[in-house]
Amino acid sequence: MSDKAVLTIDGKTFELPIIKGSTGPDVVDVRKWYADSDTFTFDPGFTSTASCESKITFIDGDAGVLLHRGYPIDQLAEKSSFLEVCYLLLHGELPTADEFSKFDHNITYHTMLHAQFDRFFEGFRRDAHPMAVMTGAVGALSAFYSDSINVDDAREREISAHRLIAKMPTIAARAFKYTIGQPFVSPRNDLSYSENFLRMCFAVPAEDWKPNPVLTRAMDRIFILHADHEQNASTSTVRLAGSSGAHPFACIAAGIACLWGPSHGGANQEALEMLEQIGTVDKIPEFIEGVKARKYKLMGFGHRVYKNFDPRAKVMQKTCHEVLGQLGINDPLLEVAMELEKIALSDPFFIERKLYPNIDFYSGITLRAMGFPTNMFTVLFALARTVGWISQWKEMFEDPARKIGRPRQLYTGATERDYVAIDQRG
Ligand code: CMC
Repeated sequence: MSDKAVLTIDGKTFELPIIKGSTGPDVVDVRKWYADSDTFTFDPGFTSTASCESKITFIDGDAGVLLHRGYPIDQLAEKSSFLEVCYLLLHGELPTADEFSKFDHNITYHTMLHAQFDRFFEGFRRDAHPMAVMTGAVGALSAFYSDSINVDDAREREISAHRLIAKMPTIAARAFKYTIGQPFVSPRNDLSYSENFLRMCFAVPAEDWKPNPVLTRAMDRIFILHADHEQNASTSTVRLAGSSGAHPFACIAAGIACLWGPSHGGANQEALEMLEQIGTVDKIPEFIEGVKARKYKLMGFGHRVYKNFDPRAKVMQKTCHEVLGQLGINDPLLEVAMELEKIALSDPFFIERKLYPNIDFYSGITLRAMGFPTNMFTVLFALARTVGWISQWKEMFEDPARKIGRPRQLYTGATERDYVAIDQRG
């Protein structure tokens, strides 16, 4: 392929450099395009635009490939742990045993929240959606840990990253406990990241809490599967917010707010609610007719990037069966999900539009079996994605070419006109 793209406007020819990545599509460098040509490029939804250079995550949507720092997601889900994946995303390489033990210690010893935080939670209504609580609570972290918000200091950036990864499970568990009216459970340093989180969610003062290795492993795997996904809506939100030099905690709160939407992280809650609404296998054909008539979407299906299959969905499906098998749950919704998947995958409407099950299709059933209510699903996604957000945010600060994000627009509104006094308007 040539190393230049040529564009002609009104008989004038412009040459645009083509930049090659280590894998994946090349990009046409339009950074000087406006200065040279006095025109903008137009790409709402960024369907053809690379907003940054990154070395963290690679997706080939057509081939169903997802790599973190080069490692395939199925290998990480099978062989690694969430904390090790956190280290990998943040630092670029898998840790040595010594590096991992220091990292593990750092995260474990930052899990507690400032005591004043309990009072902060009490300001929320008990029936608030836990994602609303998360957005507020994480945004408030800079009010509690103001010693790590200098974004120009690499050490302070690292401390913020560790604090976020460490405290998200504590905040998420508290958001859960608060909505169900149970006392907060403090973190325990002798437990693994995922075990500690499950204990903070499900332990009650009235009885002992017993860890279940299958559920702990499933939780850890769910966190791994959600850890990063290159420049999706919430990650781009974090980068854009961070490009102004905003505090890291504020940027992550912005990411959480974006994730909440039903087209993004909120889809796992909606996918389960959809399965509940369908209820039984015999109702599926009627439901599919509604999808085809564009009355509603099949939640948990389709993806902006994956047009073959979502590699995370495969691992999630396996994890779902493991959890249900371990708990001895015979969930009729799983039967509905499997039948829905079968029908959708053989129906031309879905085949033509390349609509395959995404990660959210099976995560809802799994999380429900583990004891989480639907309104907590997106919270768990936010907890896991925090490491992706903060790794991408950190990478942005390490890039000497960093600029404040400032998209352009195609203006189609009124052109300049004179103000008319109110009594003279027709
Ligand atoms: N059910 C029915 N039709 C669909 C669906 C769906 N889930 N998704 C896309 N389509 C149709 C869409 O109507 C359009 O049809 P037509 O060409 O006839 O107008 C065609 O497929 C292309 O869709 P699109 O809107 O151009 O696709 P997109 O890349 O902009 O949207 C998406 C991607 C994820 C927003 C969308 O597929 C969707 O809303 N899915 C349901 C929500 C969901 O499960 N989201 C979770 C994504 S995975 C977790 C995450 O990363 O956040």
